[in-house]
Amino acid sequence: RGNFDFIVVSNRLPVDRIPASEGDGGWRRSPGGLVTALAPVMNKADGAWVGWHGAPDEDLAAFDNDGMRLIPVTLSSDEVEQYYEGFSNSTLWPLYHDVIAPPEFHRTWWDVYRRVNHRFADAAAHSAAQGATVWVQDYQLQLVPRYLRQSRPDLRIGFFNHIPFPPPEIFAQLPWRRAIIDGLLGADLIGFQRPNDTANFLRSARRFLGASVKQKQVHVPTPDGEMSHIARAEAFPISIDVEHIQTLARRPDVIERARQIRSDLGNPTTILLGVDRLDYTKGIPHRLKAYGELLSEGKVKVEDASMIQVASPSRERVETYRMLREEVEGTVGRINGQFDTIQNTAVRYLHHSYPVEEMVALYLAADVLLVTALRDGMNLVAKEYVAARVNNTGALVLSEFTGAADQLRQAMLVNPHDIDGLKETIMAAVNLSPAAASRRMRAMRRQVLDHDVERWSQDFLVTLDEKAVRD
Ligand code: G6P
Repeated sequence: RGNFDFIVVSNRLPVDRIPASEGDGGWRRSPGGLVTALAPVMNKADGAWVGWHGAPDEDLAAFDNDGMRLIPVTLSSDEVEQYYEGFSNSTLWPLYHDVIAPPEFHRTWWDVYRRVNHRFADAAAHSAAQGATVWVQDYQLQLVPRYLRQSRPDLRIGFFNHIPFPPPEIFAQLPWRRAIIDGLLGADLIGFQRPNDTANFLRSARRFLGASVKQKQVHVPTPDGEMSHIARAEAFPISIDVEHIQTLARRPDVIERARQIRSDLGNPTTILLGVDRLDYTKGIPHRLKAYGELLSEGKVKVEDASMIQVASPSRERVETYRMLREEVEGTVGRINGQFDTIQNTAVRYLHHSYPVEEMVALYLAADVLLVTALRDGMNLVAKEYVAARVNNTGALVLSEFTGAADQLRQAMLVNPHDIDGLKETIMAAVNLSPAAASRRMRAMRRQVLDHDVERWSQDFLVTLDEKAVRD
């Protein structure tokens, strides 16, 4: 038993070991939306964060970073392959994202997923004080709530799923569907991004475990006919640290950097920006196809417009990600080969990740942000762009298939599969009048300002507390 009253458990810690091959073995910020959202929450709470540090086979003692206590969990290279690259990112990730890529089902991956989930649960149980709150995050750790409840029934357990939860018709494919639902039901409160994800989960709980649902509460019968522990499921759309992004957007050096970016591009009339992990759920090929056709039809000219695509490296040892990289790099090469001039480049493709100051400078430099995900739990890049546009300028093209589309209703919504529709929407964004842009941006900014990540975590944790009191 430990002495922390509040513990976050996620696959990744907020910092990631830099591999010796890329530098000095120091630390860098971990990729992705989960860390973006949770780091500011943890900065304010006095708690501990349990997670993997990104380096296989390396045992590390607990340490302090940025005012947070980090408790590293070790994974062997074999576990990285089977639990992280395998079950998490080649089974669950595609299954939960509309089977955009075919999920693979391997029994050995499942065994390792269970084993590793046990290890995370043990690490949390070991650090948690009597009656502590433990908040488990995301699809890599869906069995942790159940394991934790078994070993530490005194704990208050929350779970939040950062990615979509699929409809039962798709979830049904998973050979271990009952165990996953049961794992989640170990929590007192199970949070999802959208009401639709919650509804999908509840339908699966009914169908596969015979659960009954009354007023968001899930009851599951035990083998002896008694009602077992009751969980509650609800949507809590995640957000960003709005204040931090706005402060950066107003900082003179960041504003100067944005001006520099525009001038380095030759001060084009329009800068279009895409910012994504290089992931097949993000619809990067669809965006490039639409943009290539617009160039080819002369609707966009390389002298007037520049597109920047930041594609940060992700899950590079997984085959589907390698294939996507080949595809994207081939397409960018073809577009640039065809449309570049000595002076102008059609698409600047940056296979890097950048510090947040540089991202905000890019948001300030861009007239149009393109978010064309085929499926995305939330998409925090869209919210960051809105937070950064403190002058109410700029246009947001946003896929209907993101959680963010539920809240940013004044974005220019698109179905990214509809290439003609996407082209029209991109042109409408490029040609949006300043008055219309400002009207839309104001409304979106109001939404994001009112719902920052602090509010998200408060909503979740207060609901978790209330539920515990009622029980
Ligand atoms: C998404 C997931 C996170 C994950 C992040 C980065 O945001 O919801 O759980 O951490 O992607 O992916 P990675 O596999 O590098 O952790």
